[in-house]
Amino acid sequence: MPTFLIHESRDFKKIFTKMRPARKGLINYHQHAVTVLLLCLLVMVSKVSSLGVNWGTMASHQLPPENVVQMMLDNGFDKVKLFEADEKILGALIGTNLEVMLGIPNNMLREISQDPEAAASWVDANITAYCFKGGVNIRYVAVGNEPFLKSYNNSFLPYTLSALKSIQEAINHAGLGTVVKATIPFNADVYNSPESNPVPSAGDFRPEIRDLTVQIIQYLHSNDAPFVVNIYPFLSLYGNIYFPLDYAFFDGSNKPIKDGDYLYTNVFDANFDTLVSSLSRAGYPEMKIIIGEVGWPTDGDKNANIQNAKRFNQGLIQHVSGGVGTPARNGSIDVYLFSLIDENAKSIEPGSFERHWGLFEFDGKPKYELDLSGSREEKGLVAVEGVRYMLRRWCILDPRAKELEELPKNIDYACSLSDCTSLGYGSSCNHLSAKGNASYAFNMYYQFKNQNGWDCDFSGLAVVTDEDPSDDECQFPVMIADGHSMALLHKTLLNILLAVLEGCVVFLLLIS
Ligand SMILES: *[C@@H]1O[C@H](CO)[C@@H](O)[C@H](O)[C@H]1NC(C)=O
Ligand SMILES: *[C@@H]1O[C@H](CO)[C@@H](O)[C@H](O)[C@H]1NC(C)=O
Ligand SMILES: *[C@@H]1O[C@H](CO)[C@@H](O)[C@H](O)[C@H]1NC(C)=O
Ligand SMILES: *[C@@H]1O[C@H](CO)[C@@H](O)[C@H](O)[C@H]1NC(C)=O
Repeated sequence: MPTFLIHESRDFKKIFTKMRPARKGLINYHQHAVTVLLLCLLVMVSKVSSLGVNWGTMASHQLPPENVVQMMLDNGFDKVKLFEADEKILGALIGTNLEVMLGIPNNMLREISQDPEAAASWVDANITAYCFKGGVNIRYVAVGNEPFLKSYNNSFLPYTLSALKSIQEAINHAGLGTVVKATIPFNADVYNSPESNPVPSAGDFRPEIRDLTVQIIQYLHSNDAPFVVNIYPFLSLYGNIYFPLDYAFFDGSNKPIKDGDYLYTNVFDANFDTLVSSLSRAGYPEMKIIIGEVGWPTDGDKNANIQNAKRFNQGLIQHVSGGVGTPARNGSIDVYLFSLIDENAKSIEPGSFERHWGLFEFDGKPKYELDLSGSREEKGLVAVEGVRYMLRRWCILDPRAKELEELPKNIDYACSLSDCTSLGYGSSCNHLSAKGNASYAFNMYYQFKNQNGWDCDFSGLAVVTDEDPSDDECQFPVMIADGHSMALLHKTLLNILLAVLEGCVVFLLLIS
């Protein structure tokens, strides 16, 4: 079923806030009529399908969660997926009505599967505590994240199904079973088509995990929970130099794939329908599917750039909200975009692009225009408001530095403890000179370390400047001032105060 929800725009919220006092006191009929009229208008003009987004927090500096939540509301997101129950984030979501899918990390699966008490206390602390009237609108618990990924060497297979059951039972026990559904976000390599017949209609779950996956589907189905899968056309392109570029996007491909009566012009549909076939073979042709992650990165690879990310995400949004669906299944598709904000501390084992999936930069600025309503307007995204930065200063290679033998060692050190993914081949700063590389690395380290003076030394090769070294393509960021660095600032102020006091005491001692 297509899920058309009322788009909660900023204006809707304002009106709603204004309405509240009227509900307590006497209702002024005139005001009431105007409000009803406005609400009707809003329902008419802003009816769009619902759109979700993944909010990961593996970054050196965090934006204030309240400001990020406000930004999501301003932009009209309806749903958010979190990888972990973070108190501050859940706190910021209270009263917003944003639909939440809350994750449990893979490393908790074992304990939860073996100890029902652990499941119960996780649910108590992280679900029940927020599920009050006007609390957080938690709808799904994502038990693990892609636990069947081949690179995990099957280590989570024994725990996943029983962890899923334990969590759902704990939810049921708390009386929330009809509202909150436990599910598992799967990676798309749990299913495929045979090489001899590589079409979606031939899809099935991988033989090694088929029985287990079907048991999981049975359980999900019996509980009216969806099958969640992450689909990444970017990775198809990244992993295969022969992959036709156009087929990764949604604006048609000159060489569509024919599968019986169906024509596939993009890999997203082909992948989705391979899952539909796999579910049908397992006996669940109508199983509800949610796309847990889908998106395109903007840096860290030759195909990861603003143009491609915009082309993909805008095409995707139009496609999933249009109601046409895929050849094998009609209707809108529920998706959570990946992702909200760049995460400069993520593992780059999958590739340098891993830190650049955000629709928004680390500081909450939108990277490109994107119309989330799918109505094909050139619409800008709204930035996070009220962001505070550290001082406008950068750490660079001292232009007067002569002895450069120590340079490579220092660059490696700086990069190993910060983020130099924009320097690599195909990335936004790959055009820098060797000296530019050094400055970039030094600055990243310095910013990660909250601009401490002693972190801009590098064997005496570095110097602080207040001249922005960025060029049109390559940004030398100034980090945001987060809670951590504010604490530091307070400490510094305290130290200064103490020093002043000390000075006074010495002065008093001297004059007495
Ligand atoms: C709630 O979730 C957080 C984040 O996953 C976890 O660290 C914490 O242990 C959970 N609380 C309980 C009581 O299990
Ligand atoms: C999986 O196995 C490979 C090869 O044996 C090993 O290098 C890798 O670290 C293992 N990964 C995990 C997550 O255990
Ligand atoms: C989707 O809808 C179209 C038009 O209503 C119909 O012709 C087609 O058979 C439907 N496809 C599926 C898979 O239900
Ligand atoms: C700068 O660093 C990147 C990443 O290590 C490297 O690919 C590039 O060749 C370097 N540039 C120069 C001019 O040394």
